[in-house]
Amino acid sequence: MSVDDTSAPKLWTPPRDVVRKATVKDYDALRATAQADPQAFWEEQARTLKWYRKWDKVLDDSHPPFYKWFTGAKTNIIQNAIDRHIGTATQNKLAYIWESETGEVRTLSYFGLAREVCRFGNVLKSMGVKKGDRVTIYLPRILELPIAMLACAKIGAVHSVVYGGFSVESLHGRIEDSESRVLITADGGYQRGKLVPLKQIADEALQRAGIVEHVIVVRRTKEPVNMEVGRDYWYDDLMNMPLATRGNGEPCPTEVMDAEDPLFMLYTSGTTGKPKAIVHTHGGYQVGVATTMRMTFDLRPEDRWWCAADPGWITGHSYIVYAPLILGATSVMYEGAPTFPYPDRWWRIVEKHGVSILYTAPTAIRGLMRFGEAWPNRHDLSSLRLLGSVGEPINPEAWNWYHRVIGKGRCPIMDTWWQTETGMFMIAPVPSFPLKPGSGTRPFPGITAEVLDDAGKPVAPGEEGRLVLTSPWPAMMRTIWKDPDRYVSQYWSTFPGKYLTGDSARIDEDGYFWIIGRMDDVIKVSGYRLGTAEIESALVSHAAVSEAAAIGVPHEIKGSAIWAYVILRAGFTASPALNEELGAHVSREMGPIARPERIEFVNALPKTRSGKIMRRLLKARAQGLPDGDISTLEE
Ligand code: WTA
Repeated sequence: MSVDDTSAPKLWTPPRDVVRKATVKDYDALRATAQADPQAFWEEQARTLKWYRKWDKVLDDSHPPFYKWFTGAKTNIIQNAIDRHIGTATQNKLAYIWESETGEVRTLSYFGLAREVCRFGNVLKSMGVKKGDRVTIYLPRILELPIAMLACAKIGAVHSVVYGGFSVESLHGRIEDSESRVLITADGGYQRGKLVPLKQIADEALQRAGIVEHVIVVRRTKEPVNMEVGRDYWYDDLMNMPLATRGNGEPCPTEVMDAEDPLFMLYTSGTTGKPKAIVHTHGGYQVGVATTMRMTFDLRPEDRWWCAADPGWITGHSYIVYAPLILGATSVMYEGAPTFPYPDRWWRIVEKHGVSILYTAPTAIRGLMRFGEAWPNRHDLSSLRLLGSVGEPINPEAWNWYHRVIGKGRCPIMDTWWQTETGMFMIAPVPSFPLKPGSGTRPFPGITAEVLDDAGKPVAPGEEGRLVLTSPWPAMMRTIWKDPDRYVSQYWSTFPGKYLTGDSARIDEDGYFWIIGRMDDVIKVSGYRLGTAEIESALVSHAAVSEAAAIGVPHEIKGSAIWAYVILRAGFTASPALNEELGAHVSREMGPIARPERIEFVNALPKTRSGKIMRRLLKARAQGLPDGDISTLEE
């Protein structure tokens, strides 16, 4: 990595023409107005969308923390993401420009998207999927992924997308927990020129999960796969059957939903070995994602928006699928790896498709900057007007490179802090607001946040503490699927009435928020959220392992890397081959992203007297730091 450039400015003021053209010119004034009456602010935003029936109440806070938004309203996010564009000029606009890893381009207009979603909605109905049913989607980054999500939403089913980089056990656990009877997958996908055998992984997961009755398989690689008669169907075959195409004359109607009906569930890692499914709804979620994208990314009709995340993560759900479609934006979607076949692939895409806003993660920036400036400099990046960052704190070197080399010093960088649970940006600037590199600036209008000490008192400016959100917001999670008690205990019990984010942060003298990192056992590896307990349970599921501990240690490109410590069962001996095998085992069970970078065989693990592994101590030692307080350590 180039270390010449540590000179990120302390404060960066946007150029005058950016301010002049910005939708929000005075961010602090807007925040003050929203602060004075948050419900009025959100109601005004909700009025920009269509509803079948308007709400009786903006916020029902009678049973906290089970907040309800826009109660009494009837809607379906599809009404705003698709239906309202049909019959307007937007129907002829491109919704998606998709590029495969090998360079083919496929485009889909809003009209075309509406048609595909209608047809697939009918296919799902023919498989017996009804309102409220859960459908698991396990697809590579292809257009059928948004189509499948939108089709579920249209018919009132709840989608549960499992990221295509996850593997057998992760998929199995998520299918079982969500009780999905239908799985949508593909014969395979491509990543860095290599084939990812999704159907084969799905078949193994299905051997463990007996609940799935139908599997719909998209043809992507055309490699031969096992198709079980009576269970597995090709997507194309189903889409061409009369039951799907009758949409020409009689479209699949959009199901009228209550504002509070669930739209999707998305599994994410927390403190226990079992990932939890975060539940989001139709009504509040659509208001939250559309408002944040419109203001923070100042979206205009001529923009070409590229959120380079995977639709399988919350960033993709909110800002590749729902928000851009609600706003009638044109999105670029790219199937593969940023460095395939050369490290200029992303810059080639920006040039080729005239991307005007690029939204990505610091880990991707760090990964690309190591190849040097010559790669982006070969391309015309003048179409870019705004940049965005998400997933982890952006370090000054990466900020500076992104700003100078990619944005040519002109483009503001919108650093957006949020979570799977929040559904939408919580701390983020707007283009007209002065930036401090590494800070997401201030809470979004209508959002209130504090940094507290362990006793629940706000800390002094500049001091580190726990980041909490102190009032409800429309796109907030509603519960953890099948586990409302855990929703309360995990997020709302440490400081009653306040939402615990799990992050540590500080607020500086100017009121800018700085995120430091996770305070719990969540590791962010290349922006992906993984739990130490999940990795440990994957390790322990191997016959040779009796106990395991996983920690995250700082890594130049990935942000954090996973290190694991393993105690072997009697009869097994440590060897390089076993080490390799354990890594491969985690990769097979959870996915390549969870494979520890380093596995060490040990005879004992540091534990507290109550038997909890002291990961903090392992972490300190791994980094050569002092042990800190070890008074609870059992000898
Ligand atoms: C971290 C991703 C610093 C944070 C949208 C949070 C960030 C976790 C930022 C949620 C940012 C996300 N600056 N840290 N701009 N954005 N994080 O659920 O630790 O995958 O709690 O959602 O990512 O990760 P998740």
